[in-house]
Amino acid sequence: MPLNRALDVRAMTNPDSRVTIHMAASLDGFIARQDGRVDWLETSDEFVGGDTLDPGFVEAFLKTIDCYVMGSRTYETALRFEAQGFGWSYGDKPTFVLTSRELPRTRDNIEFHSGDLAQFVNGRLRPAFRSIWFVGGGVVSAECLRLGLADEVRYSILPILIGDGIQFFEKLDRDIALHLTEVKAYNSGIVELRYEVRGHRGESPNAS
Ligand SMILES: NC(=O)c1ccc[n+]([C@@H]2O[C@H](COP(=O)([O-])OP(=O)(O)OC[C@H]3O[C@@H](n4cnc5c(N)ncnc54)[C@H](OP(=O)(O)O)[C@@H]3O)[C@@H](O)[C@H]2O)c1
Repeated sequence: MPLNRALDVRAMTNPDSRVTIHMAASLDGFIARQDGRVDWLETSDEFVGGDTLDPGFVEAFLKTIDCYVMGSRTYETALRFEAQGFGWSYGDKPTFVLTSRELPRTRDNIEFHSGDLAQFVNGRLRPAFRSIWFVGGGVVSAECLRLGLADEVRYSILPILIGDGIQFFEKLDRDIALHLTEVKAYNSGIVELRYEVRGHRGESPNAS
């Protein structure tokens, strides 16, 4: 679907809905090692004066998310984590997995989808959910931006460089203008950046 058409459809469906892309990445912009490992997500830095993440706040915040969307490789990683005893990160929220394959469905709140992503987001998700979180990986995040579907990007930068890996946005083929709306530094050394995607909802990409 052309970008302008995707924007029109979105405006018609649920103007209050919001698509957020969120991932954690190394300072050099990778969300996983080339082989998919995310062992580097555990870091031991300490930033004196940084904010502390209060578990009560995190719990309340997660409740504001209405559904998750992820690529099949991210789903496979989540399944591996669960099998290793690390639990399931997405609670009982509806979780949509984009895939063209037959994958194991381990819980009732998981649904698989293949086909036109813009139609799926604008026609199915936006009318039903307010806060829609894309949680990776790089292929799906890039597709979401390329199609003009994202309203917001949240980027948690970890205090580490890993040199090579899967990029936050794999093969993004055009510039995407952003507007910085929030910066938070935590005592763990993680910096969270929050951006509005410019040029959506009829706004000029170059507006200041
Ligand atoms: N650091 C973080 O915060 C973070 C977050 C998420 C993921 N990760 C890591 O990132 C890695 C995975 O990222 P990735 O970029 O390789 O893969 P991904 O984006 O998770 O998944 C890509 C796959 O999803 C399917 N897909 C994508 N768009 C589709 C569409 N419109 N319709 C149907 N299926 C679609 C395709 O696979 P099919 O062959 O199944 O069709 C595609 O190969 C994992 O190692 C994961 O651990 C890290």
